[in-house]
Amino acid sequence: MELGRLLFYDPVLSGGKDVACATCHHPDFGYAESIDLSIGVNGKGLGEKRRFNQGNNIPFTKRNSQSLLNTAFNGIGPDGQYTPEEAPMFWDLRAKGLEEQAAMPMKTLEEMRGHGFGEELITDEVVKRVNSIAGYQRLFKKVFPESNAVTLTDITKALAAFQRSLTASGSRFDQFMRGDRSALSDREQEGMRLFIQSGCARCHSGPMLSDFKSHVLGAPDNEKLPVSDSGILGTYGFRTPTLRNLKFTRPYMHNGKFQTLNDVLFFYEDMHGKPPRNRNVDRTRLDPLAAAVRVEFKDINTIVEFLNTLNDPDYDKRYPRPFRADYRLGIYQLKFKP
Ligand code: HEC
Ligand code: HEC
Repeated sequence: MELGRLLFYDPVLSGGKDVACATCHHPDFGYAESIDLSIGVNGKGLGEKRRFNQGNNIPFTKRNSQSLLNTAFNGIGPDGQYTPEEAPMFWDLRAKGLEEQAAMPMKTLEEMRGHGFGEELITDEVVKRVNSIAGYQRLFKKVFPESNAVTLTDITKALAAFQRSLTASGSRFDQFMRGDRSALSDREQEGMRLFIQSGCARCHSGPMLSDFKSHVLGAPDNEKLPVSDSGILGTYGFRTPTLRNLKFTRPYMHNGKFQTLNDVLFFYEDMHGKPPRNRNVDRTRLDPLAAAVRVEFKDINTIVEFLNTLNDPDYDKRYPRPFRADYRLGIYQLKFKP
């Protein structure tokens, strides 16, 4: 797990050694990011201060960075059952399991690869680099004694193990559900009642407040993108996100279009009777469960108060201890000298 933490913060995993997983999944932002669309390759700074370098030919990421808190439980059902290898990943469900997912950002041009390496070559290059670092050789030998040299599979296993350790499920809501009635105020309990009554819990259900399924809501496009994002197989469906730890993971929706939870709630309030905010989505295509949502303006603040009981600020925010000199290249540079 500690090996995975090192890799997670290490920019040697990126083509130009200028981006780490932690650049877009940072502990200060609930292991998500505080800007709508991330800047990976050819950027500098962290969070809202992050900008492209001069002379840029790299696009923004297409979507808002997802929080890695509790991804260990992706796909968990109301009965608490889940299968790690089948865990649904991404806003459009295009990967399964943290191991399969972990190699994907390295191969993606705008996330970590850059123009320097082709998609087929980049992972070989990363494996070669990790193999050539004495500190990693030692650690990998300890964690994977059966491997003669570091492999891509070992790297993705280590990253997945670290990510699985990033849980945050000790919120006041959890205390309440375990039977401590005083954990939520009367108003927060009223917010929970309104959340259910308005129809939110039909999709935001189960222990993660998500059914992990695709639904068409018709959220507006992000105008930073050259083309409209049509989601899963062109349906404009996106995966229901968890509602845990939203305090740390602003902005919201698949493209970070909404800055506050109140903005999200105004969107749901408008869903009744008004045409979808996304002009490419016809009202008849709205998910029936979404069309059935009824949010009253007067209830919005109370529902937001309930959502705020789902935060667990006590999650693991530790940086790895640097173990070689050129570590300054990494997130440390981004962190301390933005
Ligand atoms: C340039 C920013 C960027 C970098 C670097 C990056 N990610 Fe991501 N990550 C994203 C975005 C954006 C998404 C959502 C993409 C989508 O759904 O299409 C995402 C999604 C994920 C998810 C899915 C979570 C879920 O609940 O489905 C995981 C897991 C993940 N990233 C892990 C990693 C790992 C591990 C690394 C390093 C090897 C990494 N990311 C590097 C931006 C980044
Ligand atoms: C039909 C299923 C469905 C219903 C009903 C529903 N949601 Fe959602 N919710 C989703 C999906 C899918 C998304 C992501 C949509 C997107 O990104 O375009 C989402 C996004 C959100 C987000 C943004 C979270 C983030 O991390 O970006 C919040 C907050 C939220 N919903 C709260 C609510 C509340 C409160 C209600 C009730 C008023 C509700 N939802 C009703 C499916 C649903």
